[in-house]
Amino acid sequence: TDLDTFIARLPKAELHLHIEGSLEPELMFELARRNQVEIPYASVEEVRAAYAFTRLQDFLDIYYAGANVLRTRRDFHDMAMAYFDRAARDGVVHAELMFDPQTHTDRGIPFAEVIEGLLSAMEEARTKHGMTSCLILSFLRHLSEEAAFETLAAAEPWLDRIAAVGLDSSEVGHPPIKFAQVFAAAREKGLKLTAHAGEEGPPEYVYQALDLIDVDRIDHGNRALEDPVLTRRLADSGMTLTVCPLSNLKLCVIDDIVQHPIDAMLKAGLKATLNSDDPAYFGGYIADNYRAVAEARGLGREDLVTLARNSFTGSFLPEEDIARHL
Ligand code: ADE
Ligand code: ZN
Repeated sequence: TDLDTFIARLPKAELHLHIEGSLEPELMFELARRNQVEIPYASVEEVRAAYAFTRLQDFLDIYYAGANVLRTRRDFHDMAMAYFDRAARDGVVHAELMFDPQTHTDRGIPFAEVIEGLLSAMEEARTKHGMTSCLILSFLRHLSEEAAFETLAAAEPWLDRIAAVGLDSSEVGHPPIKFAQVFAAAREKGLKLTAHAGEEGPPEYVYQALDLIDVDRIDHGNRALEDPVLTRRLADSGMTLTVCPLSNLKLCVIDDIVQHPIDAMLKAGLKATLNSDDPAYFGGYIADNYRAVAEARGLGREDLVTLARNSFTGSFLPEEDIARHL
């Protein structure tokens, strides 16, 4: 079989996907019309042309603005369903969706509208595609820890439907230690913990995620490679890294896809996985990410199988479900 067919047929889990980052310009226009919200673009082409970033913050400004068209639970449902339909075609059989409640509650959208829309799409994905999924409630790190505590409190009625908490948004200047208490509180409630670390931030932030938060996963983790002791520690502990190659390219974490360190990560014994991060903004879904690094770094099919296996062993699925996928 050719590479595209091999990748599409390889059962995989997606572990690093911001559902708001799956909002395609076409749906953004449709929701703007439906909700009578003004957007600062004249056409889908104009929106896509605006997706030229030199760093994380350039992207975040546009991503939060794009989320403004999301108003009702139906909007969240439709956005998530579009993602599930697309991911199913890429061979995703399990998806762990990050969502940013504060992006919506700070605009006056009730937490219930956001999560009920996502949950109903997750239910539909299960019946329509046989795809399992779970939710990762992500705190916006440019906001205060107090605001994160308020978000955790708002989530209380749905805690049995939330697998984990995460930490995203502007990394530099907002180290994991800022959120140590709220992560401890989430752990007390039985949630798993993950945090973006080492995307733009230094290796020190990865150490903090490990030592001060005791995360179950690291999102990105690229800059850990600058520190051989840290790299060894991550490898020895079997820590899963949710790596996002096309995101790294679009946000200039790397200058060229041929520089992507995925093969160095595997060679160092790191439990790396491949993910799309914000596929509507970064020019590709998960299979595009597999293909991009397979071609750019000459990964063999065994490497792609390893990466897909890592996506299950690193997932927040119960052990017996993980075993079923291996
Ligand atoms: N929010 C959405 N995508 C993100 C990323 N790649 N890094 C930090 N925050 C994000
Ligand atoms: Zn991310």
